[in-house]
Amino acid sequence: MISGNIQKARSEAEIYWIVKYGIKMTGMPAFGPTHGEDELWGLTVLVKEIPRMNPDHYRQLAEQENGMGHGHGHAH
Ligand code: HEM
Repeated sequence: MISGNIQKARSEAEIYWIVKYGIKMTGMPAFGPTHGEDELWGLTVLVKEIPRMNPDHYRQLAEQENGMGHGHGHAH
C-alpha cells in the first residue's frame, strides 16, 4: 500500500467505496458499519496521501488526530 501503486490506480471515490464496503473474500474489512462519513473520508484521504509522507509527518498527523478526540487508544 505504501508503494503508491494503488493510490495511482484508484480514484478517491473508488478508495472510499473500498474502505466503506470492504472486499469480499480477501480479508479486507468493511469500515462502513463502524465508522462515520467523516472518518471514512479521513481514511480515504490518508490512503491517497500516505505514499508522499515520511514517518515523522505521519506521527505528527496521528498526534493531532488524537488531540481531536479520534484516538484509538494506543499507548505510544
Ligand atoms: C484488518 C485490517 C485490514 C486487512 C486484513 C486488509 C486486507 C486487505 C486485502 C486482503 C485487500 C485486497 C488486496 C487484493 O485483493 O489484492 C485489501 C485492499 C484494500 N484495502 Fe485493506 N485491509 C485492512 C485494513 C485496511 C484499512 C484500514 C484501509 C484504509 C483505510 C484499507 C484500504 C484498502 C484499500 C484502499 C484496498 C484496495 C486496494 C486496491 O486498489 O486494490 N485496508 N485490504
